[in-house]
Amino acid sequence: MARLTALVLGAGAGGGFPQWNCNCPVCALAWAGDPRVVPRGQAGIAVSADGENWLLCNASPDLRSQILATKALHPKSGSRHSPIKAVLLTGAEIDQTAGLLTLRERQDVAVYGTPATLAALADNPMFGALHPDSVRRRALSVGETVSALPGLSMEIFTVPGKMPLYLEGENPEIGESAVNVGVELTARDARLLYIPGAAGVTDAMRERMRGADVILFDGTLFTDDEMIALRVGEKTGMRMGHMPIDGPDGSLAALSDLTARRIFIHINNTNPVLIAGSSARQRVEKAGFEIAHDGMEIVL
Ligand code: MLT
Ligand code: MN
Ligand code: ZN
Repeated sequence: MARLTALVLGAGAGGGFPQWNCNCPVCALAWAGDPRVVPRGQAGIAVSADGENWLLCNASPDLRSQILATKALHPKSGSRHSPIKAVLLTGAEIDQTAGLLTLRERQDVAVYGTPATLAALADNPMFGALHPDSVRRRALSVGETVSALPGLSMEIFTVPGKMPLYLEGENPEIGESAVNVGVELTARDARLLYIPGAAGVTDAMRERMRGADVILFDGTLFTDDEMIALRVGEKTGMRMGHMPIDGPDGSLAALSDLTARRIFIHINNTNPVLIAGSSARQRVEKAGFEIAHDGMEIVL
């Protein structure tokens, strides 16, 4: 019988790994072809309960090459076909939505997002290239359970975060709202959570995580001031809506008591967990967490 399957299309954060203009110590290893690091595309997963129909969670700018690299997503029959039947957007960041433009050839696909996320798409005329007869936008409310695909139900939930970078203004509020959500995907009794951006873990999230088999969680930065320390940015992770992995307010501590399989995704190119054998990687692995890589298959 078919099982709940998730394929990691991309495990990197916005910009991917290595990032086109970055020579930070981690990217430098990638540019040099060091075998301790493996390049990663921008974050997204594909999920199916029957192996035939697939839901994308986010559509990154790397989507076309991610489809090429993933046999399950290739056309299977007739002159026009795609196993991709739906896309769920957890926010309207560029690295979550720009890949929709790759799906613009009049193929039937449903695009789900909160009203706030769909409003960001509606405000950008470029997404008008997605013909509304084929690419149907469906508003999802927090707490509403919908059948996304045969055998697969989904429910979104709020996660502390912020507006997309290109909309945020000077001092964005970082908190819980429908601009940043996580999604729970259920097939029979198998449960997977996809939470690629989180500025914190609420009690409600913790409760939900206790019932999950697998949690794909925000692994953007290892330390909150990592980009400042490397002089490649001026913002902390928290200011970007991403809690760090390490430290007293980090995800390693916050998720330490869970029994679910815990996998970090949306990993920024500066994050030393990308280096096999690094002390950061060893810490994470000793604590029982995994580091996602492109092509990773999770079967429940
Ligand atoms: C983020 O995750 O903070 C955003 O994707 C930032 C970006 O678009 O570069
Ligand atoms: Mn991002
Ligand atoms: Zn870098």
